[in-house]
Amino acid sequence: MRLKNKTAVITGGARGLGEAMAKLFAAEGAYVYACDMGDPANAYQNVENYKLNVTDVEACKKFFDYAAGKSKKIDILVNNAGITRDAMTRKMTDEFWDLVIDVNLKGVFNLTRHIGPHMEEAGGGSIINISSVVGEYGNIGQVNYAASKSGVIGMSKTWAKEFARKGVPVRCNAIAPGYIMTDILKTVPQELLDKFAAQTMLGRLGQPDEIAKAALFLASDDASYVTGTVLSVNGGMRL
Ligand SMILES: NC(=O)c1ccc[n+]([C@@H]2O[C@H](COP(=O)([O-])OP(=O)(O)OC[C@H]3O[C@@H](n4cnc5c(N)ncnc54)[C@H](O)[C@@H]3O)[C@@H](O)[C@H]2O)c1
Repeated sequence: MRLKNKTAVITGGARGLGEAMAKLFAAEGAYVYACDMGDPANAYQNVENYKLNVTDVEACKKFFDYAAGKSKKIDILVNNAGITRDAMTRKMTDEFWDLVIDVNLKGVFNLTRHIGPHMEEAGGGSIINISSVVGEYGNIGQVNYAASKSGVIGMSKTWAKEFARKGVPVRCNAIAPGYIMTDILKTVPQELLDKFAAQTMLGRLGQPDEIAKAALFLASDDASYVTGTVLSVNGGMRL
């Protein structure tokens, strides 16, 4: 029970990596708000599903007021909601560019602008931003996604400094997953997935619970001296 009596907010918590984190965090004793614009695939004890589009500035403030009012202290925030809209640079549309930046970058800011200062005032907390191997190394056909996921690393390092500057233990870290089997890979052709698997030292793609376990470490007191870092969980891959 490494998260006993903790409250966690996980965006994109209805499916994929977010669902795996919500399930594991709740099993470890946390009360979890799984915020997602989509419907949850499954229900779990101590996981409260909350309909939220992270690009909606007003709705994010409303959710923060609700969760902070109900739970008093939010201890963990995982900014996980994210999307892809891939195209080569010369074919990248403004619509694809704006949408990915709005969800993956501004969406991370929209909740943290409330929950970061809240943690600072409440005496501590752990913020985890989900970046990507693509944010670390770039990738062909993903200039919008790479920009957003590299940006998330800069935001994490900034918040690690900003929210701890008064000596309050608010930690902020990023996780950079490699290729993990979720719906987000549905549009990636199998031959490309096989290529990515072969590019890892472990010779396979990852599973959602392997990211959830890394997030649990960063969320818990086991990581009490870990902040401002990027944890790569990618089977030993370099794109
Ligand atoms: N799966 C991978 O291979 C992989 C690799 C690196 C990084 N990531 C990142 O991990 C995160 C989770 O990805 P996943 O693989 O679980 O994807 P997924 O598509 O399975 O799940 C994403 C979830 O986010 C939700 N979501 C999307 N836009 C939203 C919005 N505007 N507001 C609220 N919720 C929204 C979706 O409804 C969905 O439930 C993303 O940020 C993604 O970029 C995934």
